[in-house]
Order: sequence, then structure tokens, then C-alpha cells
Amino acid sequence: MQQIRLLCFAGSIRSGSLNQRLAGAMAKELSLLEMDVTFLSLTDYPLPLFNADDEKDKGLPENAVKLARMIAAHDGIFIASPEHNGSVTPLLKNTLDWISRVPVQARGPFSGPVYAIGAASPGKLGGMRSLAHLRDILTALGALTIPEQISVSAAHEAFDAKGSLKDDRDAAFLSACARNLVHLGQRKKPLEWT
Ligand SMILES: Cc1cc2nc3c(=O)[nH]c(=O)nc-3n(C[C@H](O)[C@H](O)[C@H](O)COP(=O)(O)O)c2cc1C
Repeated sequence: MQQIRLLCFAGSIRSGSLNQRLAGAMAKELSLLEMDVTFLSLTDYPLPLFNADDEKDKGLPENAVKLARMIAAHDGIFIASPEHNGSVTPLLKNTLDWISRVPVQARGPFSGPVYAIGAASPGKLGGMRSLAHLRDILTALGALTIPEQISVSAAHEAFDAKGSLKDDRDAAFLSACARNLVHLGQRKKPLEWT
């Protein structure tokens, strides 16, 4: 199987974040498929709240440029985001907004890789409502997001000590998501063609 580069991150920087655990579980799943996987924490890429005046006066923050370049250099991206009042977190939206301001050449952070999305919540709906919003945002940005997605309800009880999903159905959704991310990531325009 052709090895591709995949990047997993969460839309939460909370210590003990359930979505970071979900992103970690996906990273593990992708590693089992013998892919080259990077796990990124947005803690390491702090960004100010987007303000067009600041962008005009100070230019783009270095972290926005770094993130845009790093994402564009991967073939597949998995984002696990918490649901905040039915939508994505302000952290994730702010990050995506900044990245969208970075000028791109041939291969951009949204036009280049294939995306997959997930959500984990202690609630019963597993962050499902936020996934529809995240899919719309990524579509607006020109990204291709695979139809498979994962939402983990009662997520505070969903992971075992090794960070794997305990429930067979959750694990099956994660696996389907991982396999199609790899499948389409391998078929999208390879890095060396751009
Ligand atoms: C402002 C706020 C709004 C929230 N809204 C929702 C919601 O709409 N649906 C939901 O399932 N959980 C909601 N939650 C609970 C989060 O899903 C929960 O805190 C989750 O653990 C956060 O993700 P994390 O563990 O990855 O940090 C909300 C939490 C906060 C702080």
C-alpha cells in the first residue's frame, strides 16, 4: 500500500481533552495501516483572535503560516472537534480563519489534502451537530471531506487506558474513517505532482 502523510489534531487544547484522545486514537489507527502519521496540538500554535485591523497592521502571525504550510504538506487531515453550543469551537474556527488568510501557490492547506472529521462529547449526541458545521466550513474553504465521520457519545467513558475506543461500533466507525481517508488520500493529486 502506498504510504502517504497524515496529520491529526483536535479543536481543543484543554488538558485531558476528549477530542485530543479521539485524534490520538485516529493517529494510532492510521499508524496500524502503516502510514506516516503526525499528531499536532494547537497548544503549540497559539494565534490571536482574528481581527482584520491587526492583520493589516501586523501581517499574518507566523503560526498561521506554519500551520498552513504543514497542513498543505500532508495528504490527509483528521480533525476532532468538540461541540460548543451546536457548532465548532472558537479555537478551531479561529485557527481555520487564520489559515484561510495565508496566500497559497499550487497546493494549499484546503485544496491539497483530503479531510476527515470527528467529534467526542460527554453528551448523548456525540457532537454530531458540530460535524455538520465543520463539514460546511471545510467545503466553503474548498476542501474535500470524506463522507465517513465519527461521533463519540459519552466520550468520558469511551476510551480504555491505551486510548482505544472500547465500543465495537465506535471502533468500526473510526476504522472506516481511517481506511477511506487513506484510500482517497492516496488517490488525490500526490504531493510530487504540484
Ligand atoms: C461553551 C460550551 C458549550 C458546549 N456545548 C456543547 C454542545 O452543544 N454539545 C455537546 O455535546 N457538548 C457541549 N459542551 C460540552 C463539551 O462537549 C465538553 O466540554 C467536551 O469535553 C469538550 O471537549 P474536550 O474534552 O475535547 O475539551 C459545551 C462545553 C462548553 C464549554
